[in-house]
Amino acid sequence: MTHEFAGQVVIVTGAGEGIGYQIAADLVRAGANVLLNEVDTIKAQQAPDAIGCVGVGADVGDVAVVRGLVEQAVNAFGRVDIAVANAGITLWNNFLDYQPDDFQCVLNINLGGSFFLAQAAARQMRAQGVGGRILFMSSVTAVQAIEYLSAYAMTKAALSMLARQLVTELGPYGITTNAIAPGATVTPRNVQDDANYEAVWGNITPTRRPASVADIANAALFLLSPRAAQINGQTLIVDGGWTATSPVPSLEFVTRKETES
Ligand SMILES: NC(=O)c1ccc[n+]([C@@H]2O[C@H](COP(=O)([O-])OP(=O)(O)OC[C@H]3O[C@@H](n4cnc5c(N)ncnc54)[C@H](O)[C@@H]3O)[C@@H](O)[C@H]2O)c1
Repeated sequence: MTHEFAGQVVIVTGAGEGIGYQIAADLVRAGANVLLNEVDTIKAQQAPDAIGCVGVGADVGDVAVVRGLVEQAVNAFGRVDIAVANAGITLWNNFLDYQPDDFQCVLNINLGGSFFLAQAAARQMRAQGVGGRILFMSSVTAVQAIEYLSAYAMTKAALSMLARQLVTELGPYGITTNAIAPGATVTPRNVQDDANYEAVWGNITPTRRPASVADIANAALFLLSPRAAQINGQTLIVDGGWTATSPVPSLEFVTRKETES
């Protein structure tokens, strides 16, 4: 791997495992100084130790915390060049049963955590005067309905629109705003939810497999690199062609969880 990101300072949220972890690890390997955020205190220590970066255990659902991440990156490394608003939670439930607390939680983390990270990072980038990159983590559910995901999907569509919207205000500062929309991706959480995850999604994905975290991180590093300097306001779908057809497997694990709890 080249040191394409040498000297760049990056914040990645929700990166104790899964997609964010892979993005953070690849960025460190490519020469970046990374501040890795994670709400789980154990993962917030283990992940940065494994990758070789700075960790901050905190919940991005709190605006003060998100602003603090930018301050901490500046304290640790002197600047911020890239912000990856990766943290997001998936609370499965029927629309008709969705509870206000869960709704608010999804909004605070998926939207508030991303919006205010982008705002704080962009303020810092504007002050630095040499542009920057902001990447949001959307989802194929931004464009394709999947049962039980009304609140989650709504936030993901909003993030794609935020990436598009911010070109007006941040483009003039040389800051690009894009999003990635992963399809089904093999992560510890997904495999824990459904032990057959790889097989069921592989059966209905044109490439015959769900994405790996490396598939998503490869797309992220491209969008964050100088090679993507003129790509702005876009959402890159990384789903093996799934949204071209969009079949959904049995989601029986959601109702099974409800019965168990
Ligand atoms: N995995 C997929 O199939 C998939 C598909 C489409 C979109 N996405 C999106 O990609 C992003 C990453 O997905 P993932 O599956 O790797 O995530 P994940 O659910 O595995 O979570 C990754 C990490 O984020 C942490 N986290 C959760 N809430 C947090 C908070 N409030 N503050 C800080 N950290 C928090 C978790 O503890 C976990 O270690 C999310 O925004 C998700 O919605 C994932």
